[in-house]
Amino acid sequence: MPEDEEFNVTPWSVTGKVDYTKLMEKFGTQPIDLSLTSRIQEITGSEPHFMLRRGIFFTHRDLGWLLDQYASGNPFYLYTGRGPSDHTHIGHLVPWIFTRWLQEKFHVKLIFQLTDDEKFLFNDNLDLEKTHSLALDNALDIISLGFSEKDTEILIDSDNASILYPNALKIAKKITLSTVRASFGFEMDANIGMAFYTSIQAVPAVLESIRLGHNIPCLIPYGIDQDPHFRIARDVLPKLGYLKPASIMSIFIPPLSGVEGKMSSSDPNYAIFVTDSENTVRKKINKYAFSGGKTSVEEHKKFGGDPDIDVSYQWLRIMFEPDDTKLKKIREDYISGSLLSGELKAILIERVNKFLKRHQELREKAKDRLHLYLTSSHK
Ligand code: TYM
Repeated sequence: MPEDEEFNVTPWSVTGKVDYTKLMEKFGTQPIDLSLTSRIQEITGSEPHFMLRRGIFFTHRDLGWLLDQYASGNPFYLYTGRGPSDHTHIGHLVPWIFTRWLQEKFHVKLIFQLTDDEKFLFNDNLDLEKTHSLALDNALDIISLGFSEKDTEILIDSDNASILYPNALKIAKKITLSTVRASFGFEMDANIGMAFYTSIQAVPAVLESIRLGHNIPCLIPYGIDQDPHFRIARDVLPKLGYLKPASIMSIFIPPLSGVEGKMSSSDPNYAIFVTDSENTVRKKINKYAFSGGKTSVEEHKKFGGDPDIDVSYQWLRIMFEPDDTKLKKIREDYISGSLLSGELKAILIERVNKFLKRHQELREKAKDRLHLYLTSSHK
């Protein structure tokens, strides 16, 4: 991390305690205010998703414009993705759960990109066969979240070169080496595939326009670490006659170790994977979840805990307790000291295991339906 900064966010790593207000300024994105959430409520006729109400999805580019287009009869499609480097962890599910809600409420198509090429290029320990098999594995998690079979296309990069390559070439020709170096901080020992890769991630943002032969707006939900890719895409795509993609971005689920950085596969003890057993979840949370509670029960009862630095509370807020009233009670009881740290952990363990039990069953069933989602079935 550069010495003068207290946090750093790139598509490959997040360090320090992220100040999301500062990050918005740095990346040049707009806050999601009440007027935008009301607009979404008006158009969809539904209460905004809890991730919107709570500011988990907190910033955007051109969302107002996109909603205006939709309201005037020009719908959009959704695009999001995953770099398959391991099993999915629950952090990845944050943008996907929200994307699923958007698909259901706006009745729109989703292109889901699985970038086995990216993870091969950026990780010395993974070969292409491995990242491809992980792409197929991660696809099961997408299907398990309930995305519509008819309206969801899962595009695995290395299987779809004929779609991606000609378009990535046109995009790549408009991006200079100095832009990718400034955006991603590559050093001279970076392989040359790394510099080209961002053009591949830009293609699905215009793929429906290419297929339909006319421009159609695109909305990309993602954790804010992916934003450097889409800043470049928004700069280049209009030069090729396309619309700038709109985006909606979330904060990160923190690792178990504390509210700094983001949950990541590279720290497996501090992440919960969708394949973890009940026992593993219990052990990891009990052992590693950073607590905002006091050191003794007596002190905790007297002075109360701090939910803002308590990972168990934060996971409930970001993902596992959709009910605002229940969350408020947990918060108040923790602050007052009547809810102990161990009890808070027990609530989280119960929620996570309940979610994973169902998810793992759905994952098994998804194996038979995988082929229906792949790009080859949607062409
Ligand atoms: P990847 O696999 O690193 O992450 C997939 C998605 O999960 C988000 N994410 C998180 N969100 C909340 N809390 C966390 N701890 C957390 N960790 C990861 C990421 O922001 C991302 O939205 N290059 C991409 C793959 C990709 C993509 C896309 C992502 C291709 N096209 C379009 C988003 C949109 C990647 O490696 O994501």
